[in-house]
Amino acid sequence: MDNAQRKLITLDEFTIQETRKFPQATGELSALLRDIGLACKMINKQVRKAGLVDILGKHGATNVQGEEQMKLDIYSNETLISVLKNSADCAGVASEENDNEVCFDDSFSAHSKYVVLFDPLDGSSNIDVNASIGTIFSIYRRVSPLGGPCTKEDFLQPGNKLMAAGYVIYGSSTMMVYATKLSVNGFTLEPSIGEFCLSHPNLKCPEKGKIYSINQGNSSKYDDNLLAYLKYCMEDNKAEGRPYSHRYIGSMVADMHRTLIKGGIFMYPADSSSPKGKLRLQYECNPMAFLMQAAGGLATTGTENILDIVPAELHQRVPIYIGSKQMVSKALEFVKEGAIVA
Ligand code: AHG
Ligand code: MN
Ligand code: MN
Repeated sequence: MDNAQRKLITLDEFTIQETRKFPQATGELSALLRDIGLACKMINKQVRKAGLVDILGKHGATNVQGEEQMKLDIYSNETLISVLKNSADCAGVASEENDNEVCFDDSFSAHSKYVVLFDPLDGSSNIDVNASIGTIFSIYRRVSPLGGPCTKEDFLQPGNKLMAAGYVIYGSSTMMVYATKLSVNGFTLEPSIGEFCLSHPNLKCPEKGKIYSINQGNSSKYDDNLLAYLKYCMEDNKAEGRPYSHRYIGSMVADMHRTLIKGGIFMYPADSSSPKGKLRLQYECNPMAFLMQAAGGLATTGTENILDIVPAELHQRVPIYIGSKQMVSKALEFVKEGAIVA
């Protein structure tokens, strides 16, 4: 049976085929994506049981097998760290849940050329209401010399140096979407064989959409320029397809997944109580900006392209406007520095 007759192409098969396009590639990036996929399948298994905790035992309690139950975000963090530590392709990790980077100190890891950053469970406040949550990941080639441990500099690279980035969404189905500079591809978890299978090849974000996404409850803290843009989104202008619909899940992965598939704009701006916004550059904004840009969209802080920011520290926050090219460009006309909106 050749590939044309095959219905399912697994994540692993796909990444290996992609690697074959580059004679110098060693296959380490494919292996790393497989490892991240494995950790996310383990997280998925726990996420799917989340509603049963009252029956099977609460987090922080001991379950029937005598094992300690962990909060899902801690479980997700520890699972990713342990799978990547066991892998031969990762020199170290940085996580939203850890204060500092974790550099693996075994001899295999010392020779690995990649480091991985992640938000192990994004949107975790949505677990209690059974809405979609996700894992966000980024892969950089390390800048420290091979043969020794990785260093903080490996994790403080701008988004334009990313090798790959993506997310796994634990939604009505479980999907991995990842981007390289070449393309963005989506894989749906086929539970009967436990594999992510290519379901959304070569994803492109529509140039224009009809949805704006922001926590509008914070409006009293927004500046006049942003308020003017929100007014524009709500304005009646049939010829231009407005008013736009408003959708906000409060789980960045879920809001971004909708924005990628349907088009739209997602915003987490600076406001008077959070002058740098809320979302973290290295764990949330950069991977999503890289993916969105590879899909033909745009991502900006309002003053600069997200991917051009050189991070000063691991947990830095930045404002973000991201999504369909035309919509983000329009938003920029309102919110960019110096834009005086009457
Ligand atoms: P996390 O669960 O990793 O802390 O991230 C939550 C983030 C993000 O997923 C979402 O877009 C945003 O917080 C929602 O914040 P608000 O509740 O302030 O709107
Ligand atoms: Mn998050
Ligand atoms: Mn998180």
